[in-house]
Amino acid sequence: MDYQPLDHRYDKMIYRRCGQSGLHLPAISLGMWHNFGDDHPHSNKQAICRKAFDLGITHFDLANNYGPPPGSAELAFGRILKEDFRGYRDEMIISSKAGYNMWPGPYGEWGSRKYLISSCDQSLKRLGLDYVDIFYSHRFDPNTPLEETMEALDHIVRSGRALYVGISSYNTQRTREAYKILKRLGTPFIIHQPSYSMLNRWVEKDNLLDTLDDLRIGSIVFSPLAQGMLTQKYLGGIPEDSRANQNKSLRPQFLSEENIENIRQLNRIAESRGQSLAQMAIAWVLRSEKVTSALIGASKVSQVEDCVAALSNLTFTQDELKEIDRYAKDGDINIWTQSAEL
Ligand SMILES: NC(=O)c1ccc[n+]([C@@H]2O[C@H](COP(=O)([O-])OP(=O)(O)OC[C@H]3O[C@@H](n4cnc5c(N)ncnc54)[C@H](OP(=O)(O)O)[C@@H]3O)[C@@H](O)[C@H]2O)c1
Repeated sequence: MDYQPLDHRYDKMIYRRCGQSGLHLPAISLGMWHNFGDDHPHSNKQAICRKAFDLGITHFDLANNYGPPPGSAELAFGRILKEDFRGYRDEMIISSKAGYNMWPGPYGEWGSRKYLISSCDQSLKRLGLDYVDIFYSHRFDPNTPLEETMEALDHIVRSGRALYVGISSYNTQRTREAYKILKRLGTPFIIHQPSYSMLNRWVEKDNLLDTLDDLRIGSIVFSPLAQGMLTQKYLGGIPEDSRANQNKSLRPQFLSEENIENIRQLNRIAESRGQSLAQMAIAWVLRSEKVTSALIGASKVSQVEDCVAALSNLTFTQDELKEIDRYAKDGDINIWTQSAEL
């Protein structure tokens, strides 16, 4: 059936300015790392995107390698754009990235000019778009001069393939270096995409959020639910239809007794606030305006609805924050540390 977006789709969503740019992002954005590959039915992907757009989520995040197989999430979203969102492109912010392994041989990953530009072209083809709104360097490459990677991002904008650029999982030092180069080039570098959640607080230790605030660069934090751990779903074991049961990125050792006990206590605090744990986890990353957007994933329409309802309570008392700090402990779940340490 033809999709008609809801007229009141912008009434409840909160939009935050991305750094000092002119771009506003929804406080909650939707990513397609999981659940958008060929291993999931198209009807579910379509239903999730429709619901997200109807709830005011205007930002959809992709990368060349999202699937499985790599590239299939962009193909799926390209089909959704064509079938459902034709006529709404200008109401949407679509991002993609290159950095991780995408095709065989020496030009299929990391940060060379060769890889970034050809990967961006491939992404545009899969998405059926002339340009993406944001294009990211997905990870820092220790073996390519940073100038080369940043100049490739600059070229991607100047050639009309993207409107803005960002970097992902770069640590504070590398972020400052990238900023300096992009500033000199005059590239619209407006956003950083790091992981951040109550169980993964590396951005605080690395001072990254303060640095971005200082540089007036926006931040969109990914996996705010720790891949689903910051929900009630693992408190009674591993459900069959959950990510932990798929032998993918949520490794069994992440569900350690210590982490589960901390999650149980965080769930108790969420209940006392009248929120689901997922909602409190999202509110917690958004508690400071230093975070522009919380970048969630979803396997079901109901999850998108539950997550967006977090926006009705984003404030915390000092006592609540103190109590949360007792249990919001690093759970050794940051699988992106390697790129942040470089
Ligand atoms: N830049 C990078 O290197 C990088 C890396 C990772 C992710 N990302 C981006 O961030 C996006 C989000 O990552 P993520 O999927 O790990 O985020 P997440 O929001 O932490 O986890 C999403 C998962 O949590 C569960 N979930 C979501 N809402 C729920 C709710 N209300 N109640 C119960 N369970 C709920 C679902 O798990 P089930 O599937 O088990 O139902 C869902 O698949 C990605 O799609 C991608 O765009 C970027």
